Order: sequence, then structure tokens, then C-alpha cells
Amino acid sequence: MSTFKQAFKAAPYKVNGHGPLTVGALQTALASMDPDTPADHYGSGAIIEEFQQQMAAFVGKEAAVFFPSGTMAQQIVLRMWCDEQHCPTVAYHPLSHLEMYEEKGLHTLHPINVLTLGDSDRLFTLEDVKNLHERVACILVELPQRDLGGELPSLAELRALSSYCKEHNIKLHLDGARLFEVLPYYDVSAPKICELFDSVYLSFYKGLGGVAGAVLAGDAEFMKPAKVWKRRYGGDLISLYPYIVSASDSFTLRLPRMKQYYEQAQQLASNYNACPLLSTRPVVPVCNMFHVHIDLPKETVETILIAVMQETGIALTGHVNAVSDTTSFFEVTSGDLYPTVPQDKLAHAFASLTQHLQGGVLHGNESHQ
Ligand SMILES: Cc1ncc(COP(=O)(O)O)c(C=O)c1O
Repeated sequence: MSTFKQAFKAAPYKVNGHGPLTVGALQTALASMDPDTPADHYGSGAIIEEFQQQMAAFVGKEAAVFFPSGTMAQQIVLRMWCDEQHCPTVAYHPLSHLEMYEEKGLHTLHPINVLTLGDSDRLFTLEDVKNLHERVACILVELPQRDLGGELPSLAELRALSSYCKEHNIKLHLDGARLFEVLPYYDVSAPKICELFDSVYLSFYKGLGGVAGAVLAGDAEFMKPAKVWKRRYGGDLISLYPYIVSASDSFTLRLPRMKQYYEQAQQLASNYNACPLLSTRPVVPVCNMFHVHIDLPKETVETILIAVMQETGIALTGHVNAVSDTTSFFEVTSGDLYPTVPQDKLAHAFASLTQHLQGGVLHGNESHQ
């Protein structure tokens, strides 16, 4: 284990997330259940059907199907839109999860062409959609755009995009892996956002902190092939109830805390932005996450963060990414751990970070001369 990872492990206070996922979370979720509750059986049974109905109602759609993963659910929904539209092309942002983290699953498993919308350093706009040079069956919108620090379009922009797509018979799919997390910012109900989309995917392990699992929701007729595709993908497990029980428990526990996580992220970002050599993206977070960009190499930042951990006991992050030889970034996600960190210790950590960053100017420059 690297010195940085060791220091992170040893630090008594971690600022980000909900803490490590342990089997205890599932034990707690199961503890209140009648042990004779029947398990689901290949997609049937009260335990899966009731949760699907609950999630469909939550997003204001007619039907929902539970999947083991969002990767599976979203490749499937894009294929379904291509079939329905008799058009083999879809479009999404170049930093979409499908493009970045799915080993080209959509391209490899389906006869689907992908067009990317906008650039890697900004959200795509309606103008980018208008400039598409080919017909597309579906456009996928990721709210928030995780790899841009969780940036979001405004509700007005989303409404304009939705109207344009309706007029031009383009289906809109919502990658709502973090939809729960952005509800406090938009300050409208989930159905008000989801009515702008033809289909919606939700995740139960990001901000909600469940074990795993996803839901795909849309019109009842459109959703029928989702179950067939789930079977083809090997996702129709004989029983999915451990994921469903955990998803349901995490939904009940953490959905009411999303506003708190969002406000915590704003406090944290303002602390970071008061430090030299770094800035957050977005400057003011719009959900529980943001990125911290630093004008120093990854190794220098790790050395500084180790010093902060040793001096104050506070671990600001456990992972730093290199952007170039001279710049780096890390992701901040605020959750249940933030309130467990004493505020005076946190203030001490930011004072220490400031001091070391001032020293780091010299250090960073020296190591790159
Ligand atoms: C924006 C986004 N979409 C989709 C996924 C895929 O979810 P899963 O891990 O359940 O396959 C993720 C996972 O990190 C994600 O961040």
C-alpha cells in the first residue's frame, strides 16, 4: 500500500462519503424483515414488483424494471430506443459513463453508432444538438455530469432541450445515476424533472449508499422488452432481493438527507476555494459532489495531504488523479461522514492545507525544473 493510502487509512476523520460499505448495512436492512418473506423469482414476486412500482411512482413513470447494474440497464435502454425508432444512432456527452467506463459495451454488443455531443470540458447545449449532422434515435443526458465535477444544466435549458427533442422525434433518456442528489438544487419533484425525459435510470449505491442496483423507468409498453433484454444480458438473477432490500432501505434512510449533503458540499467547496493554488468545479456545487483542481502535480498534492492528515487527523481525500505533469484533481462527495468531523479540526485541516500549499508552490516548481 502506498504511503498516501496508509496515511488515509490511519487518519481518524474522513471527510467524504458515508464510510466504507460493510455487510453490516445489509444485515441492518434485513433485520426488520420477516424471515419468511418470499424471495423474488426471476423478476416476479411482491418484493421486486412493489419496489419497481414505488420507483416508477417516484419518477412519475408507468413502469420500472430493477437491474443489477446501471451499465446493463443503460446499454439496454439505448438499444430499445434504437429498435423502437428504427434508427441505429444515439448521442451523448464524450465523458458519459458509457463512453468512459463500460469498455465500449454498447458499441461492441449492439449495432449502434454513437455521436458525441459537445466537448470534454463543458456540458453539451441545445446548439450542439441542433448541429447534429445525422438523425439520432435517442440522446442520453447525465445529471449531474460526474466527470465535470457534477455540473448541471438549468431547468430552463432542460425544458428547451426536451421540447426540441419532442418536436424532432428524438427520445431523451436520463442517466440519473445521481438524480436523488440533484433534487435539492432543482427544487422540484422528481416527476417534474423526469417528465422531460422518455426514460430514466436511477442508481441505489451512489449518494444513497446501497449495495448495488439500478432501475429503468418509462411507459409500460416501451418497458416490456427491458425484461427480455435483462434475461439476454444474464441480469435476470433468480433472486435480486439482497440488492432490492438494500436499495429500499438506503432510499428511505438517505433520500431525506440529500439537501444536507448538498449544503455540506457547498461549505466544503467554500473552504477549498479560500486556499491558494486550487479551485473547485463547479465553484458553487449543485449537489453533494464537486472536483478540486490543483495547480500542482499529483505527487506533491499527496505529500501535502499526508502532512495535513498527520498534523490534524483529517483525511480530505483518499485518491488524487493526475491531469498533467503539473496539475491534478480529486473528487469530493459529501455524505454521512461530514457531520462526524469536528468543525474545529476541519478548520485546522484547511489552515494546514493553506500553509502547505503556499510551500507547495516552491516544491511543485522545483520538482518540474
Ligand atoms: C453517471 C453514471 N452512469 C452509469 C453508471 C453505471 O452504474 P453501475 O455501476 O450500476 O453499472 C455509473 C456508475 O458509476 C455512473 O456514474
